[in-house]
Amino acid sequence: MIRLAIPKGRLGDAVADLLRRSGHDCAGLRNGSRRLAFTMGDIEAILVKPSDIAVYVEHGAADIGVAGKDVLMEDEPDVFELMDLGFGVCRMVAAAPAGFADDPSRVLRVASKYPRVAGEHFARKNRAAEVITLHGSIELAPLVGLSDVIVDIVETGTTLRENGLEVLEEIAPLSARLIANRSRYHFIRTEIERLTDSWRTRP
Ligand code: PRP
Repeated sequence: MIRLAIPKGRLGDAVADLLRRSGHDCAGLRNGSRRLAFTMGDIEAILVKPSDIAVYVEHGAADIGVAGKDVLMEDEPDVFELMDLGFGVCRMVAAAPAGFADDPSRVLRVASKYPRVAGEHFARKNRAAEVITLHGSIELAPLVGLSDVIVDIVETGTTLRENGLEVLEEIAPLSARLIANRSRYHFIRTEIERLTDSWRTRP
């Protein structure tokens, strides 16, 4: 048995498509169910908040999991990153209100769900920055004077556009990654590879 941590939400729907491709019955993943752990053939699936996936995998509570590259960049968990799954494609960017002009004599205030990524980005540019950590609705921060700029993920660009913000710089391309617990990987490598081989084969 492989224990697989599946993120709830958008990425989880894409994982269900992959699992169907490898012949797994995903009835337990149907919308509306509140059940968090179930078995599908040779996989024991657990449903986890996306930002917690790597915690389960790093501690060995799950053998493998599907995590966004954004979370891996921010948390730097001690796991193997096995495969780019090719979905959940988006970008980590710095953005600001249209027409923003940076004043280098002032400390830049940056709102983000990704304080490490944001801090390292401006440190690399030698730009003094104060990072303000938020947990959602990041685009609101510059509109109400909480920050000058934001560091966040952009997928379609709709949230930026509808709030009058523009991309200043792209920081990194992002997508969903398959991660594995370092020690468990050595024991169940063959089983993991059988699974990922069936995902690589297009139906
Ligand atoms: C994410 C992200 C942006 C939005 C980008 O937020 O933080 O706000 O999606 O998507 P778009 O470019 O397609 O508009 P999420 O939906 O996770 O909600 P949140 O505000 O609660 O973080």
